[in-house]
Amino acid sequence: MKSVKISVYREDPTTGEKGHFQEFDVPVKEGMVVLDAIRYIEENLDTTLSSRWNCKASRCGSCAAEINGRPALMCGTRIDSLHGNVRVEPMRAFPLIKDLVTDVSENFEIDRSIPAYKPEKGTKAPYDMKQIDIEKTKEFRKCIECFLCMDVCHVIRAHKSGYVGPRHVVKAASLDMHPKDTLDRSSHLNQKGGLGFCNITKCCQEVCPEGIRITDNAIIPEKERAVDSTYDPLMMFAKKVKEENEGKK
Ligand code: SF4
Ligand code: SF4
Ligand code: FES
Repeated sequence: MKSVKISVYREDPTTGEKGHFQEFDVPVKEGMVVLDAIRYIEENLDTTLSSRWNCKASRCGSCAAEINGRPALMCGTRIDSLHGNVRVEPMRAFPLIKDLVTDVSENFEIDRSIPAYKPEKGTKAPYDMKQIDIEKTKEFRKCIECFLCMDVCHVIRAHKSGYVGPRHVVKAASLDMHPKDTLDRSSHLNQKGGLGFCNITKCCQEVCPEGIRITDNAIIPEKERAVDSTYDPLMMFAKKVKEENEGKK
């Protein structure tokens, strides 16, 4: 049986084990993905290796890692696509727990800080919505919260600037583009979420396993909306009238 050398990142902050790469020879089967190789190592070669996964079907987002330096899902990356050169390491944008496992919990805090869906008073489900409006938000609902887009973003990775990050702009856009929602989250993103730090390099949308056009369809529209609501006098007037009307209700 053919085998492949896999270089895996090892580090355990709880024991003081320093970061290093360890090589393993793993037998290769047809159709094998990187997660299969990691599971093989855990079961047969070194039971102390830690990884996180759940579905093995590119649905849960838990097996996010960096494969040959590129953020990717371990279960969505075939070994034969890597041409014999396989290096697996944890996502570098998040604190390390052990080996390939990172602590992504800060994302759940950021998620909670985004103003929730707020329909007009009296609006009740089921909602009548136009197909075009459904299409607009459906793309964002495909997010599996793998946080690969956050991992690749140089603003988060290098500068820790207070930018909420692409995943959370996608969440805000999915609510802002909901036809029954009444809030505008762009000002929140701009003033508190550091949206201005994003320089639309599109790296996030290149790594998204769900093919969400993060920059084109979420970030750029939110940036435009933020500029409109801050500087466009007509939009400012409309916003003021809306706020006054809401205050009277
Ligand atoms: S487009 Fe913006 S959010 Fe996406 S990777 Fe570039 S800087 Fe980060
Ligand atoms: S937007 Fe894409 S890359 Fe980002 S968390 Fe969601 S599925 Fe993952
Ligand atoms: S294990 Fe669920 S996305 Fe890979």
